[in-house]
Amino acid sequence: PIVQTLDTRPFDDQKPGTSGLRKKTRHFQQENYLENFVQSVFNNLPERKGATLVVGGDGRFYNAEAVQIIVRMAIANGFKRLIVGQNGHLSTPAASCVIRKHQALGGIVLSASHNPGGPDEDFGIKYNAANGGPAPESLTNAIFEESLKIREYQICEALDWDLSLVGTTQVGEAVIEVIDPVADYAELMGQLFDFDQLRACVSRPDFRFRFDAMHAITGIYAHRIFEEMLGAPQGTVINGIPLTDFGGGHPDPNLAHAEELVEEMFQADGPDFGAASDGDGDRNMILGRQCYVTPSDSLAILAANAHHIPAYAKGLAGVARSMPTSGAVDRVAEKLGIPCFETPTGWKFFGNLLDAGKVTFCGEESFGTGSDHVREKDGLWAVLAWLSVIAARSLSVREIVEEHWQTYGRNVYTRHDFEGIPKDRADQVMKHLRSLVAHPEQMRAAIEATGLKREWQSADDFAYTDPVDGSVSRQQGVRIMFSDGARVVYRLSGTGTVGATLRVYIESVEQDPARFTLDAQDSLKDLVGFSRKIARLKALTDREEPTVIT
Ligand code: G1P
Ligand code: ZN
Repeated sequence: PIVQTLDTRPFDDQKPGTSGLRKKTRHFQQENYLENFVQSVFNNLPERKGATLVVGGDGRFYNAEAVQIIVRMAIANGFKRLIVGQNGHLSTPAASCVIRKHQALGGIVLSASHNPGGPDEDFGIKYNAANGGPAPESLTNAIFEESLKIREYQICEALDWDLSLVGTTQVGEAVIEVIDPVADYAELMGQLFDFDQLRACVSRPDFRFRFDAMHAITGIYAHRIFEEMLGAPQGTVINGIPLTDFGGGHPDPNLAHAEELVEEMFQADGPDFGAASDGDGDRNMILGRQCYVTPSDSLAILAANAHHIPAYAKGLAGVARSMPTSGAVDRVAEKLGIPCFETPTGWKFFGNLLDAGKVTFCGEESFGTGSDHVREKDGLWAVLAWLSVIAARSLSVREIVEEHWQTYGRNVYTRHDFEGIPKDRADQVMKHLRSLVAHPEQMRAAIEATGLKREWQSADDFAYTDPVDGSVSRQQGVRIMFSDGARVVYRLSGTGTVGATLRVYIESVEQDPARFTLDAQDSLKDLVGFSRKIARLKALTDREEPTVIT
């Protein structure tokens, strides 16, 4: 192939956020925008000559074109082996699995996760390292630095390889391997779980299971694993064909966006078990009949029941949760006598802990659950883990959840998102809160003025020191904590593409069984009102009601 070195000029907005670089699709389609970012990644990989690179994405609009560009650039930059998912498809957890299995130097994953897709929606790209996990901050910062000074990039002439057929093509010194995007991942799942047991469970005539792929990438994985390999009846998987615009929907598995599934599950005669996954397959939502499991509870329940899953029967090394995730798993860890780590938001912070063997399970309140089998959160893994617990215990989802609360108490939890706030207004909210943190006497007075009847304990702006490499991440969220275990946390989203999203996380610890079944919004009413007053939301943003509640 003919390698060209082309001139370019830097863009000043290629700083990766919580999970890679995310922008409007048209922004990515600007001349050289994608190329600049990819070259900035490659320039930070001195070992790339002769190395293996994995490429794939969630199949959203522009995925196919972007994969071609990346493959051409990777070959021009000296990679020897390109492993590409068929049709440019790889779910995020499958990409992580493939990187690890084939000992690649890393991988480029194209996705904007749960954000809508299409010409006027979102696109995204991130680099995952050899461990299969998102690049650490040191690397994403270096990529950003490089993107500010980049002047040229290397690319092979357009050849438009056919990526629809599985097989190997030699291109000069390099080889392009188009792989079945499901095979390696499905094999790994078969090693972790007892497929015979799961097969028996999903084929029981009295057990009904529904999985909503939300027109996104997990459709191909779910059809293969749940229906073909485990023998669940056809129709178990709904919205199972990946579409470039996710059918016009918002591929985010939560109560607001997975409407079809939620409606069915909340019928009196709804299915026994329901789940959904997001645009790129790393998120999950777990439901029982008329029962919603919060992601924080899901992590805790899986940790408490890990001994029912073959791969984890020998016990967990430890668990980790992101700071805004509820403390439910902390109690389980305490009881199991294993360490529990509290990290900043974003899966990349779990990478070192997993690599060092310090934790086995990790999770985030944002519908992320996973284990040390890959270095991404993993939606289908969570579904298989729940199925394993259901199969082993012969209990309903609701019974499992309620029994858990009886044993550990309930961390009542909700997240209120205020989307599309002008950036400067959102910054003012955080500035105001940080100033209260810096002046405890003002904080105390401000809390009193809200009329909240809970005893204030402390407040801070969360900072994290990675126990493995000692790196420090500051300003990861303002926390206001009460002596009864309740807390309110504020942070700005790092994945949005329009304006700012303020996330407010609200939690209390309930020990009174009579109150376990209360609706979280009712149970947390005082804290919800408080969270808006103390942050001066009305005055600073002119907003009082959140756009999304999860
Ligand atoms: C959000 C979630 C975070 C998750 C990330 C990627 O990031 O809050 O937990 O890791 O998406 O799925 P945020 O927009 O809050 O920065
Ligand atoms: Zn995702």
